[in-house]
Parts: sequence; C-alpha cells; structure tokens
Amino acid sequence: MEINKQPLPKLYDEAQDFMPLLGTDYVELYVSNSKQAAHFYKTAFGFQELAYAGLETGLQDRESYVLQQGKIRLVLTSPLKSGTEIGRHIELHGDGVKVVALWVPDATIAYNEAIKRGAKHYLSPITEEDADGKVVRSGIYTYGETIHIFVERKDFKGLFLPSYTAWKSNYNPTTTGLMYIDHMVGNVALGEMNTWVNFYKEVLGFAQIVSFDDKDISTDYTALMSKVMSNGNGRIKFPINEPADGKKKSQIEEYLDFYEGPGVQHIAVATSDIIKTVRELVSRGVEFLRVPDNYYDVVLDRVGEIDEDIVLLRELGILVDRDDEGYLLQIFTKPIEPRPTLFFEIIQRKGATSFGKGNFKALFEAIEREQELRGTL
Ligand code: FE2
Repeated sequence: MEINKQPLPKLYDEAQDFMPLLGTDYVELYVSNSKQAAHFYKTAFGFQELAYAGLETGLQDRESYVLQQGKIRLVLTSPLKSGTEIGRHIELHGDGVKVVALWVPDATIAYNEAIKRGAKHYLSPITEEDADGKVVRSGIYTYGETIHIFVERKDFKGLFLPSYTAWKSNYNPTTTGLMYIDHMVGNVALGEMNTWVNFYKEVLGFAQIVSFDDKDISTDYTALMSKVMSNGNGRIKFPINEPADGKKKSQIEEYLDFYEGPGVQHIAVATSDIIKTVRELVSRGVEFLRVPDNYYDVVLDRVGEIDEDIVLLRELGILVDRDDEGYLLQIFTKPIEPRPTLFFEIIQRKGATSFGKGNFKALFEAIEREQELRGTL
C-alpha cells in the first residue's frame, strides 16, 4: 500500500497568489435548536460563549450563538419562523455545516477572482459595520449546498462580526484543550471527487498534497477514494472523499443518503494533549468510535516507539499512525446529530503531516459495526 504523497508546492508568494487565504475564520452550522446546541457544545466540547445575534439585536428571522475554543469559532444558527432558507436547509439535510468561512485580506478581490475562475455565486461583497468597525464578506458555493464565505476583518475590532452582541451567561464549563481546525472533510457523490479537486485548484488556488484510492482504503464493505487539498500556507486542508464500489453500502454513501447530498463529513480539531482532552470529553458524554482491543496488541509493531503510555491509549481508544515525518494520535466521535452524518475527529500531531491512513481499515470496520446496528450497511 503506497501512499501517494506529494510535497506542497511553494504557492504562498503573496504577490503572486491570486487567492491569499489567511486561515479558517468560522464554521457555521444550521441547526434545529441553536440554544440547545450551544449548550451541548459548551458542556460536551468545552467551547466558550462569545457572541449572539437574534431578536434582541434586531434580527427577525433567525438567531445565532457564536462559541470559541482556541482559534476555532463555531456559529450555531436556527430559524425563528417557518418558510426560511435556513429552515428549508435543515428540513433537507438535518443539522450540518452550512458555511466554512475563510479569512482573507480582501473579500472583494477574493470573490471577484473566484467568480472569474468559475465559482458559483452565493453572496456579493457586502460591508457591515457597527461601532467596532467594518467587515466585508462575500461568498461562493462549494460541493452540495455548502458555502465558502470570505471574511475581511482588518478594519474591525469587535468580538465576532458587526451587529453581534457579547454573549454572557452564568454557565461556563472549562475548555477541553481544542486549539484549531486541522482539516475539514467533504463527502461528494460518486465520480465527483476530481471535479471538486479541480474546483479547489482552479478557483481557490489549492494544491493536492495526498491521495488515497480504493485499494488503500477498503474493507469488505467500505471503499472510498480521497484526495487532500491544501491552501498555499498549509493552514487550510480539505480532504475530499467519494464512495467507491464495495460489497455493501459504504459509509460515504450512507452519509450522502442521510445528508441528502454532498456536505461536510467531519471537522478535525487539534489538541496538544490528546489523552487529557479525550479523557475530559469522555467524562462530558462525548461518544467515540472504538476499534477492537486487539488493535493495541500490534499497534506499536506498526508505528514504533511513541511517547504516550499505550495503556492509556487503549483505555481511551486513541489511535496511532506514523508517516515519514513523525506520528499522530487521533480518535473519531460518533455522529453528533440524529442523522449519521457530521462527526468530529480529535487529532494530535507529533511530526506527522498525514491523516491516519494506517488506521483506516480498523476504523472503517468500527464504523461498519455501527452501520450494522443502524441497518444501513
Ligand atoms: Fe480526518
């Protein structure tokens, strides 16, 4: 099993780069009950309250809670009445990621460049301002109904975006050590992976850094193909998955069936102490996938020496993989909403720049056992 890993091209010459992206700005989920979802992300994942917009700030049709942990900003948005675009989205897809917002130096240039290169329009550049300054945003479609919003905030010193107010409550659980988004994975339909790989190349100036095919990633039932796209500075990584033929329904197909189209499959968040983070998450009720215990009998033969105590990794179900540059530790939650769609990955990198290919087989077999229970295999 050869991994097809290509070095990141030197794209990040700001003067040359038509699409300089500074990082992920925020991730917005459309959810059916933003107030309760906000409570869940505080309680279970340790996100901190940051900002709010809704009836009290002059909105009539929706409300949003903004939570932060490390550099990760989540926005949870629900409609306040029937017949809204947000409501339609939730009816079709269930709770899920609507917006992956990208922090840019200039949202007008980003929008114009993307449209010129073939992106589908979502939001023309719009300037919003309040006493803390102004923010320019614009947006384009990516796979399915998922959106990239470009955010230009160099003239803004407020909490989140203009017209949001500070959100303060007397319920503030501690953080769990989540620091930043390592990568976000999209599931697209059969035969569409290369379409979206080309979209990220041509429209957003990304480069492909890794690819896996169905020979790398297949169990008896699950097969998928995946290519990993990265922006020039390496801060934004978007693996794109498509299903491949297997004996039964793959987890990617299950996702596409239940999300009723392409969308964000998982958000991988980084920690610098995965044992501490996962122990905390487990104690707060976050449910993780478990691989069979015998995984730990042989894992050190595969990955060699590691700093962590294997007994603790086994106890918590944390997985290990190694590449040429080092190793990584990772674990995956079960889906975090009723439909078997979006989940989280917790990852700690110790040199490795890859995505845990050595764990895919054990992991997919664990997912298949869950699918079996759901009757969707
Ligand atoms: Fe991942």
